[in-house]
Amino acid sequence: SRTVSLAVIPGDGIGPEVVGEAIKVLEAVTASGDVVFEQTHYSLGAGRFLETGDVLTDDDLAAIAAHDAILLGAVGGTPGDPRLAGANIERGLLLKLRFSLDHYVNLRPTKIYPGVASPLAEHGDVDFVVVREGTEGPYVGNGGTIRQGTSAEIANEVSVNTAYGVERVVRYAFEAAAARRSKLTLVHKTNVLTFAGGLWKRVVDEVAAEFPAVTVDYLHVDAATIFLVTDPARFDVIVTDNLFGDILTDLAGAISGGIGLAASGNINPSGSFPSMFEPVHGSAPDIAGQQKADPTAAILSVALLLEHLGLADEARLVNEAVTADIADRGAEARTTTQVGDAIVERLASAS
Ligand code: NAD
Ligand code: IPM
Ligand code: MN
Repeated sequence: SRTVSLAVIPGDGIGPEVVGEAIKVLEAVTASGDVVFEQTHYSLGAGRFLETGDVLTDDDLAAIAAHDAILLGAVGGTPGDPRLAGANIERGLLLKLRFSLDHYVNLRPTKIYPGVASPLAEHGDVDFVVVREGTEGPYVGNGGTIRQGTSAEIANEVSVNTAYGVERVVRYAFEAAAARRSKLTLVHKTNVLTFAGGLWKRVVDEVAAEFPAVTVDYLHVDAATIFLVTDPARFDVIVTDNLFGDILTDLAGAISGGIGLAASGNINPSGSFPSMFEPVHGSAPDIAGQQKADPTAAILSVALLLEHLGLADEARLVNEAVTADIADRGAEARTTTQVGDAIVERLASAS
C-alpha cells in the first residue's frame, strides 16, 4: 500500500472543529488501506502563541516541509485581541508557509451545488475556479511606516509583481482553462494600477498566443464583483493577484451558499514543496466552540488534496458524498459533527 505523510495544522477557533470532521472523512475514504495517511499534528496558531510565544519556529517549518501534503484548518484569534498585538499570526504562520513552500497557485473553486441555498435566485450553472497568485502582490510585506502613531504618519505597502511570478501563475491558469471550458478572465485594476496591471495584461496576452483555443477576457475588479452576483455562470477560470483573489473568493463563497462550502489549495505545481489545503474561511471566533461551523469547506479541501496526490477515485467519492449531502440539506440546522457524520455515512454506504 502507498503511504502519504500528512502534516495537520488544526489551528484556532473553528479550525480544529472542521479539521476533525475532514480527518474523519479522509479516514473513511481510505478505509480499505490501499493508501495510508500518516498524520502528524502541529499545534500552531494564536493558541500556541499565547502559550509559548512561538508563531512558527524554523524547526516547525522544516518538519512540516518534509511531509507530502498539509491540511490546515484556520489560524488567527479574534481580530483586535490586544494579547495578539504584534504577533501577526497570519503573516508569521500562514503567509510564511505559503511563501516558504512556494505556493504560487492559490486554487479556489466555486460551484453552486444542486439544491444549495444560494442567495442568488437565478444563477444558472455556476462552476468556476479562481487561480489566485499566492506568493507576491501586496502580501509580501514590502513596506513600512514612519512617524507611526503621529498625525504625520506615512505608511506604505508596496505590491510586488515579478514577470517570473506573474507568468507562472498565468500559465497555470491557461492550462486549467484548456482542461475546462476554455475561458479565462483576467481580473485586475489596470485603469489605476497601471504598472502592475500593465505587466499582468501583457503576460496574459503573451501566454494567450500559446492557447489559441482559450477565449480570454478582462474585467476590472470592481466590475468583476458585479458579475459575480449578477451573472456568475459566465466565469470559467479567473486569474488574479493575491489581494483581489482573496476578496473575490469570499464573495464567491457567499454566492455559492456560504463561506462554509468554499475549499482551497495552496499549490506548488513543481512538487518541490508540499501543497497545503484549507478552507477559504478563517477561524470564525464568533461561532467557535459552538458546533455551528460548516465543515464542508474543510472536507472539500480534503477532496482537492486527494486529487492533487493523484488519488482521483478517492477525491471523486468525497465530492459525490458532499454533493449528495448538500442536495439533501433541509432547513434544519445541523451541528459540525452531524454534517461530518452524514458525509462519512454516505461514504460507507457507497463502498
Ligand atoms: P472568518 O472567515 O473567520 O469569518 C467570517 C464570517 O463567516 C463569520 O461570521 C463566521 O462565523 C463565518 N464563517 C466562517 N467559516 C464558517 C463556517 N465553516 N461555517 C459557518 N460560518 C462560517 O473571517 P474573519 O472573521 O475575518 O477572521 C477571523 C480570524 O480568522 C482572523 O484572525 C483572520 O485573520 C483569520 N483568518 C484566517 C484564515 C486562514 O487561516 N486561512 C482565513 C481567513 C481569516
Ligand atoms: C485567506 C485569508 C488569508 C489571506 C489571511 C488570513 C492572511 O484571508 O486564506 O483567504 O488573506 O490570504
Ligand atoms: Mn481570505
